[in-house]
Amino acid sequence: MTSNDKFQTKVNPPVIICVSSGKGGVGKTSFTVNMAAALAHNTKKILLIDGDLGLANADIMLGINVRHTLREIIEEDRDPADILIEVSPGFHVLPASSGVPEMAALSYEEQAFLTSTLDGIISRFDYVLVDTAAGIGDSVLWFNNWADENIIILSPDPTAMTDAYALIKILNTRYARTKFYLVLNNVKNQKEGREVFDNMSAVLDRFLQIRPVLLGEIPQDSNVARAVRQQKPFYLSAPDSKAGRALTAMAARILDQKP
Ligand SMILES: Nc1ncnc2c1ncn2[C@@H]1O[C@H](COP(=O)(O)OP(=O)(O)OP(=O)(O)O)[C@@H](O)[C@H]1O
Ligand SMILES: [Mg+2]
Repeated sequence: MTSNDKFQTKVNPPVIICVSSGKGGVGKTSFTVNMAAALAHNTKKILLIDGDLGLANADIMLGINVRHTLREIIEEDRDPADILIEVSPGFHVLPASSGVPEMAALSYEEQAFLTSTLDGIISRFDYVLVDTAAGIGDSVLWFNNWADENIIILSPDPTAMTDAYALIKILNTRYARTKFYLVLNNVKNQKEGREVFDNMSAVLDRFLQIRPVLLGEIPQDSNVARAVRQQKPFYLSAPDSKAGRALTAMAARILDQKP
């Protein structure tokens, strides 16, 4: 990473990081809740927005009870401060569990209201992480375009690679996004992760003239599934696991403290 990176230099106002994948079930929510926990552990003020408007589950992975959601900000003019849930000191979640209409279903005024409300909420945080839905639906594209930085999660599965490519292509051609960080999840080892990254990188360079940045690899690790069942981030319950160490290294990269 260069010293010009927003990850390093843009701490105030917050850095908005959107996490997407194209294909479902590749580990977006798991990555996002653990990255949020890791950054919060580094005494940063973190807001995790559950942007999976249809099937929100960041709250489940964190074991928190949701009372109010984004929908009520839009429909009932509820104070956004009522909606935020403090998971631990400095780590807040903006939940969306009871379902928020897709951005396309909102009127222009509602969209503008939501954007300005979110812009108001995020100002007191250092990092805002958005966990999006799978696919290339309207809310996924909207959150990716709203963010400063785009992280794309993919696994060695060829369909995860084609879906990640499809998402990057649409973000590039429709919204002129050019900078993408890739996270290779569920890899057998670092070597497999590098191979997947190199393949993806070659395709992106050839067809879209995009050179992605490797944020890191997360190995296949039974601690990840166990942490989901325990409703606690593996970064906290198993910090020395393979996945825990991978998260620590990636958080350090985001904070630009060389691991
Ligand atoms: N590195 C890993 N090692 C082992 N299991 C993993 C790993 N990463 C994710 N998983 C498993 O994959 C499952 C799906 O992960 P997760 O819910 O984070 O994916 P997602 O991309 O958010 O899915 P969706 O598209 O449905 O939102 C988790 O329940 C977890 O058990
Ligand atoms: Mg998810």
